[in-house]
Amino acid sequence: MTIYANSPDGPVNWERLLAHRTQNMHGSAIRELLKITQEPSIISFAGGLPAPELFPVREIEEACHYILREQAKIALQYSATEGYRPLREYLADSMSKYGFTPSPDNILITTGSQQALDLVGKTFIDPDSPIMTGLPTYLGAIQAWRAYEARFLTVPLDKDGMIVDKVEEIVKQEIPRFIYVLPNFHNPAGTTLPEERRRQLVEIARKYDLIILEDDPYGALRYEGEDILPIASMAPERTIYLGTFSKILAPGLRIGYIVAPAEIITRLVQGKQGADLHSSTFDQMIANDVAQRGILKAHIKKIRDTYGKRRDLMIEALEEFWPEGSNWTRPHGGLFLWARVPHPLNTSDIFDKAVANKVAYVPGCNFFPYGDGGFDAMRLNFSNASEANVVEGIHRLGKVLKEGLR
Ligand SMILES: Cc1ncc(COP(=O)(O)O)c(C=O)c1O
Repeated sequence: MTIYANSPDGPVNWERLLAHRTQNMHGSAIRELLKITQEPSIISFAGGLPAPELFPVREIEEACHYILREQAKIALQYSATEGYRPLREYLADSMSKYGFTPSPDNILITTGSQQALDLVGKTFIDPDSPIMTGLPTYLGAIQAWRAYEARFLTVPLDKDGMIVDKVEEIVKQEIPRFIYVLPNFHNPAGTTLPEERRRQLVEIARKYDLIILEDDPYGALRYEGEDILPIASMAPERTIYLGTFSKILAPGLRIGYIVAPAEIITRLVQGKQGADLHSSTFDQMIANDVAQRGILKAHIKKIRDTYGKRRDLMIEALEEFWPEGSNWTRPHGGLFLWARVPHPLNTSDIFDKAVANKVAYVPGCNFFPYGDGGFDAMRLNFSNASEANVVEGIHRLGKVLKEGLR
């Protein structure tokens, strides 16, 4: 007999007791998709997963041994909410390559940058608060802020990312709690905001006294072109910058970070205390050890080479196998490209067909907070599948599209 059987008076009516905000909370489509696509025979372009065969396992193992041998009493103990000091020092220092030197007190270590998005929501969003984002936008941000009952003011993207010209029109009507920007190799669109647009955005933010939330998980993964200064270096007084070790080292460690003015860090720290007291001390020490010993730098170089090749292969395969009328972005870095299918195909409608053909992607509408766009688009990840599977998967998708057009 299960302990979860109904009570003698019938099922418990717990729905009536739920918080109002749960009406806005839905399971992430991607998490659900990942479950379907975990079957090994499916070639999945759906997740934002790094290539697991490249994880620096031996180096992480060495770091674990070292930490447990030399620093176990620190590693296994509770620690400061702000994060492990040597890691914060390393991160503060690493920002100086952008001509901008925060102090470790400007840094808060988070449980992935997903937690940073949640903490920013917890700190800045009341029910019905407007927040501004480009469109499409990162699904995990939508999910985090829906729970705080945010209202999304959206700005379209073009090939260079957020159309900053449109920001001022909206801001004149209503001041958002923050402007969410994905400047490098946008998830899902693959676009990069040129320096000029970053400066223009900073100008608007200064004029209207606004806060910018700069989410930058992919900045180090550039395959061509020159690095562009982060917005945080142009306006540190009003930018909350988010970074993470997920895409450049290992997402399983769940180590991200926030760089922001000290008054904002203080507020975020209070929010984090209620959430998890602090991020795993041990994991922070692993990230720190790997970074300080130069392993991270070498690893980034390695994954850049591999992912850059996979991106090229995916684009070549799209050119070869997809029907006329399709198009896609050519990201200069990151993990994703955004592909458009010919009219009248709908990427949600053909998803089951794709899975039946053992290939998966994320339908574009998931990246629209109100689910009202992106029907002709899909997000394709090129980092996780092997080179052979990148080509084969795009071939299979091409067949599904051509059949759908018949
Ligand atoms: C734009 C963006 N922000 C935040 C995250 C969250 O990353 P993590 O919590 O693993 O650091 C992701 C992950 O895909 C992302 O693409």
